[in-house]
Amino acid sequence: MKIAVSGKGGVGKTMLASLLSTILSQSGYTVLAIDGDPNPTLATALGFPDAEKITPISEMGDLIEERTGARPGQSAPYFKLNPKVDDIPERYWVEHNGIRLMVMGRLKKGGSGCYCPENALLEALVAHLLLNRDEVVIMDMEAGVEHFGRATAKAVDELIVVVEPGKGSVETAFRIRELAGDIGLESIKVVANKIRSEGDREFLLASMPDFEFVGFIPYDQSVIEAGQGIIPLSGLNPEVIGLVKDIAAGLPKD
Ligand SMILES: Nc1ncnc2c1ncn2[C@@H]1O[C@H](COP(=O)(O)OP(=O)(O)O)[C@@H](O)[C@H]1O
Ligand SMILES: [Mg+2]
Repeated sequence: MKIAVSGKGGVGKTMLASLLSTILSQSGYTVLAIDGDPNPTLATALGFPDAEKITPISEMGDLIEERTGARPGQSAPYFKLNPKVDDIPERYWVEHNGIRLMVMGRLKKGGSGCYCPENALLEALVAHLLLNRDEVVIMDMEAGVEHFGRATAKAVDELIVVVEPGKGSVETAFRIRELAGDIGLESIKVVANKIRSEGDREFLLASMPDFEFVGFIPYDQSVIEAGQGIIPLSGLNPEVIGLVKDIAAGLPKD
């Protein structure tokens, strides 16, 4: 099972990715969580000690040079487009409470024809994790899934788009669906988060009539406190945990 969580910034992607990882791990699955956000916060959400000291793969200059032949940020004329990556997960994931985590870091934007070696390594690594490994993989993504490459994105079994009751996150959801459709990724589910009223729920259902909603999570003080590291995920409001368990139960389990 390979799951990507995306949506506009601040909607609750990291909250959902961390809870799904925890719930699936506790149900006996081997979970590999991937932080694909350029501003990584998944380690903190998962309660990793010294989360801020984890070096993202994109900043591992020696590794990138060893595997691609060029250093990060260098637009070297030649570097390997298919670097060896199959030994990287075991060497570079960090583990806490049985959950393995890899922090990808910032991809260089491809603008003026620059395609950097760290992009080549990250794309190859994410493709390897999605295509060749049999753990449950949960990716916390910045926005869509396409920036890790088309072939990679296709390997995602389920794309979960998180929205909150506001126009911005709804517009982002439409854009994500369009980009996902362009690369043949049709299986999209929506989780509505930060719901404070029946009106919030109705607003989202009316704004996104042809989307499949798989959960409505209330706005909840305990989620904020977990996000601040004041309480562990296990201290969350049981209603929220139950709702995410229901979402987890509906995911494909192959
Ligand atoms: N259901 C919720 N109720 C209250 N606060 C929430 C809820 N979900 C997320 N938050 C808070 O919103 C902020 C953004 O959540 P986060 O998961 O980091 O979003 P994203 O990863 O999409 O940027 C955090 O401070 C988090 O604690
Ligand atoms: Mg996040």
